[in-house]
Amino acid sequence: MAYIVSIDQGTTSTRAIIFDEGGQIVASGQFEHEQHFPAPGWVEHDPVEIWTNVREAVGFAMAKANITRHDLAAVGITNQRETVVAWDPTTGQPLHRAIVWQDTRTQGKIDELSREHGRDGFVSITGLPLDAYFSASKFAWLLDEIPNGRQLARDGQLMLGTIDSWVLWNLTGGPEGGVHATDVTNASRTLLMDLRTCEWSPTMLELFDIPIEALPEIRPSSDAFGRASESSLLRGVPITGILGDQQAAAFGQAAFDPGQSKSTYGTGSFVLVNTGSEPVFSEHGLITTVAYSLEAGQPIYAIEGSIAVTGSLIQWLRDSLGIISTASEVEALASQVPDTGGVVVVPAFSGLLAPHWRSDARGAILGITRFTNHSHIARAALESVAMQTRDVLGAMAQDVDSELTELKVDGGMVANDLLMQIQADALGIPVVRPAVSETTALGAAFAAGLAVGFWEDLDQLRQLWAEDRRWVPQSAIEDRDAAQRQWDKGVERSFGWVGDDAGR
Ligand SMILES: Nc1ncnc2c1ncn2[C@@H]1O[C@H](COP(=O)(O)OP(=O)(O)OP(=O)(O)O)[C@@H](O)[C@H]1O
Ligand SMILES: [Mg+2]
Repeated sequence: MAYIVSIDQGTTSTRAIIFDEGGQIVASGQFEHEQHFPAPGWVEHDPVEIWTNVREAVGFAMAKANITRHDLAAVGITNQRETVVAWDPTTGQPLHRAIVWQDTRTQGKIDELSREHGRDGFVSITGLPLDAYFSASKFAWLLDEIPNGRQLARDGQLMLGTIDSWVLWNLTGGPEGGVHATDVTNASRTLLMDLRTCEWSPTMLELFDIPIEALPEIRPSSDAFGRASESSLLRGVPITGILGDQQAAAFGQAAFDPGQSKSTYGTGSFVLVNTGSEPVFSEHGLITTVAYSLEAGQPIYAIEGSIAVTGSLIQWLRDSLGIISTASEVEALASQVPDTGGVVVVPAFSGLLAPHWRSDARGAILGITRFTNHSHIARAALESVAMQTRDVLGAMAQDVDSELTELKVDGGMVANDLLMQIQADALGIPVVRPAVSETTALGAAFAAGLAVGFWEDLDQLRQLWAEDRRWVPQSAIEDRDAAQRQWDKGVERSFGWVGDDAGR
């Protein structure tokens, strides 16, 4: 029983990673799934493909590690957050493709509710503004779309859940006794949970007309969720950890205490700062969320800055512009020039999230001259990642009293050394990369391992965190300020590009 397997079901791919007692990676498997874009602003995944990839990734990782289920102490699950699935509990079949967190099809409904209640009308209950990003309006859309959806939900013939619930239910047997549960971090992203009681909020359920019968039970992040079913490769292994991917990354970075933070650079980027046992409500466009909960009734909170487009901007350079053929090539391309030559890229592909919350913004490339080439655009793309992060940290500094002295980073983009230097320069504080950069999977493994005594306590986990490399700022303050002014100008120009202004 020397290992934990962590399932990281992300936006673009599914990984299974096997960790040993030292928190080190023993083996992993990874499979990408298809992104469906059926209309502008719509993004869908096939839940069956995702479930297949989960099983294949686990099988692949176990084979590579040369272990069987008998060697596994527990399973942890972490997942792309806010993405929703509706399925038939009798057949186990999805009733629609999953609606992905980036999907803005419910903007009309959100605008309507915002006009009536104000964008921040339910922040005191949920910690979140009314926004199409969160799950509630997506659940409501599914219930509208599926014939007789609400009746089926009330009759127990339709289940709703975020991706963690879909994976857990299938892993624990699906139609044969599958467990319908979620963890408090995932539930805190639905716009349906009361942040203080950590229960579904009757007010919010009524607002979106969601029958509670369809929703999973909310549990702590470290809990005995169930055991893998007989038909599974993992049969009998307990599933004891679930966290949304960003909270998992913070947990994997050992950000257990108030004031501790991290920034994860994946498809989008997400900065979380732990605020302890009391929720802090932002005055500057950040959201309040649950960081983790190890015991029922004892949530630890965080404020979060969510940035929709960072890694996906690099994918866009690769897939749509074709100026690179792999994501990692962006570093060499951007390194060919010393600066952006005055170019600013604002990747507001579907509006801007924190701290602006402008659904009317759209992407822009500004400052182009006859001198501009691919390298300037690549470099400006990397700068946009750093500047968006700086905007969020600036907002956080105003909300939380403690001054950030360094930034712990993780996620796929931190392999990019140039980006890390640009980030340190933009912030004026050191940027620190941990030895295990798969902190998302590690965090879910930590939560799972704590529940079964694989690891004793948070102190032991703190000892496992180790630094790989740090970047210190090298730019002059004047350069930093000039870059900030240019960036701010670019961001402002991106506002109001599409008609419907639901922003503040
Ligand atoms: N060397 C690099 N430089 C810049 N960006 C990179 C580099 N390598 C990967 N990326 C970007 O990082 C992202 C992948 O990061 P990561 O693997 O953390 O994301 P992910 O976990 O798959 O995201 P999600 O969980 O949302 O699916 C991709 O969007 C890719 O474009
Ligand atoms: Mg991820």
